Amino acid sequence: MREVLQTKDMYFMDDPREGDRLYRKANAKVFVAKYLESHLENLTNARILEAGCGSGAFLQVLGQTYVNHSFVGIDISGERVREANARVIGQTHVKAMQASIYQLPFPDNYFDFIYCRFLYEYLQQPIEATKELFRVCKPEGKLLVQDLDGQFTMYPETPAALKKVILLLKNETGFDPDVGRKLFTFGKSASFSCVHAEIEAYHKKFGSFDEENYRLWELKVDIALEYVKKVLPDAKWTENFKNEFLASLRDENTVLFSNLFTLTFEKAYMHSS
Ligand SMILES: C[S@@+](CC[C@H](N)C(=O)[O-])C[C@H]1O[C@@H](n2cnc3c(N)ncnc32)[C@H](O)[C@@H]1O
Repeated sequence: MREVLQTKDMYFMDDPREGDRLYRKANAKVFVAKYLESHLENLTNARILEAGCGSGAFLQVLGQTYVNHSFVGIDISGERVREANARVIGQTHVKAMQASIYQLPFPDNYFDFIYCRFLYEYLQQPIEATKELFRVCKPEGKLLVQDLDGQFTMYPETPAALKKVILLLKNETGFDPDVGRKLFTFGKSASFSCVHAEIEAYHKKFGSFDEENYRLWELKVDIALEYVKKVLPDAKWTENFKNEFLASLRDENTVLFSNLFTLTFEKAYMHSS
C-alpha cells in the first residue's frame, strides 16, 4: 500500500525550489499598489496578517512602505518562514511565523486587516479556514482574498494528460483549480459580509510566452510532478506528460488563461444588548 500523503495542512508544492518560484512570480510592488494600498492607507498603527505568506515577497514591500503598521505572515512551511524572515531582517515591525491557517496563534478580534493570495486553491477545508480568519479579525476589520478560477483553460483543448494530473491532485490533495467562484460562499459561510468583488484575466497567453514565464511554468510542473510521481509511480508517463504540456506552452497557437477573483469582506460590528 502506498503511503498516505494528505493531511489537512499538506501543501503538495512544498519543495526547496518553491520559495524562489513564489518570489519570482509575486510581482510584489504591483500587488501591494493595486490591491492593498487603498486599505492600508486608511488605517493607523494597524495589525495586518498575511495567511500563506510564502517566502515573504509581500511582507518585504509592505514593511518598507508602512512603518507604522505591524505585519505578521503565517505559513505552514518552516522553510518558507525562514526565507520570509531573512527577507525582512531589520524590519522590527514585520515577522513570519510557522502556523496553520486552521489554528492561528492569535487571540480573537486581533487584526485590522487580513489578506491571503493563492492559498485557497490548496485548502481542503476552506470554510473552516475562513472561520478561523473571521475569529482573529477585529469587528469592522477586513479580509481580502485573491485566488484563481478556471486554471489551465486552454485552446486547443487542455491536453488529456494534464486533465488527468489535475483530477489526481483534486482527489488526493483537495487542489481546486476553480476555487475563485467559491470565495464568496466561503466568506459568507464564515459570517463575513462581502463589500467588493472583481474578476480579471490572469495567466494570459496568446502566442508566445517570454522566457521567464516559460521557466516559471517549467519549475511549477517539476515541483508538482515530485508529488504526482509518489501517487502515480510511472516515470515514463510523467515524463511524457511534462514534455507534452511544455510543448503546448511553447506552441505559438496555444491560448491559455484563467480568471483572477479578488474579494473583500468585512466583519460586521456586533452590538451587545
Ligand atoms: C501558492 S503559495 C502563495 C504564497 C503567496 N501568498 C503568494 O501569493 O505568492 C501558498 C502558500 O501557502 C502555504 N500553505 C499551504 N497550506 C497552508 C496551511 N494549511 N496553512 C498555512 N499556510 C499554508 C504554502 O506553504 C505556500 O507558501
